[in-house]
Amino acid sequence: MHILTNTYHVFNLPAEPGQDVELDMGCGKGSFTLQLAQRYPQRLVLGSDLMIGRLGSVRRKRDRLNLKNLVLLRASNLALASFQLPPNCIDRLHLLCPDPWPKRHHRIKRLVCTDFISRLQRILKPGAILHLSTDHEPYYEDWLKMLGYFPNLIEYPEGIADITDIKSDFERQWNARGMEVRHLCRKLIAE
Ligand SMILES: C[S@@+](CC[C@H](N)C(=O)[O-])C[C@H]1O[C@@H](n2cnc3c(N)ncnc32)[C@H](O)[C@@H]1O
Repeated sequence: MHILTNTYHVFNLPAEPGQDVELDMGCGKGSFTLQLAQRYPQRLVLGSDLMIGRLGSVRRKRDRLNLKNLVLLRASNLALASFQLPPNCIDRLHLLCPDPWPKRHHRIKRLVCTDFISRLQRILKPGAILHLSTDHEPYYEDWLKMLGYFPNLIEYPEGIADITDIKSDFERQWNARGMEVRHLCRKLIAE
């Protein structure tokens, strides 16, 4: 596990030349991340989160499964997107069920905003896929409005067609309670 919290260094991705890189931001308990790394052993999969306990449990499962292509980063989403990852380094980025902070006076804590989307674009390679999901309909509606300001992120549902069967821990939890999780997929095209 690489601890990036509070460092201003750019993380040197252990990717081979030409290797596809996927990032699961805020991976939590990591069911999605682990299954993704199992499905695509030839890709480098990064799983990041702030909570070291959660990452520790993902690490134990990774080691048990002997997944050499899964690298765990303890890092904040904002720092990763802003300066800790090199520019143009990610082929597919997943941000699944980020905390929706549903109460009105908590909304300031929400991660996804137009500024954050600009920062995500910094780390995406041209043609990369951005994959977001949420159980919270108003947050989803906000994302659609925000994405309207980014004409270079075009709708591209095919970008996640290969992984519709892989559910994150939170998605499984919501589904078990009969709640739907909405997914959104965009492709970064040249402006
Ligand atoms: C609601 S959980 C979703 C976990 C996982 N993506 C899933 O769908 O099962 C949100 C995760 O984001 C992490 N998180 C919250 N704020 C974060 C931040 N600023 N930087 C990195 N991770 C963060 C939390 O620790 C938690 O694991």
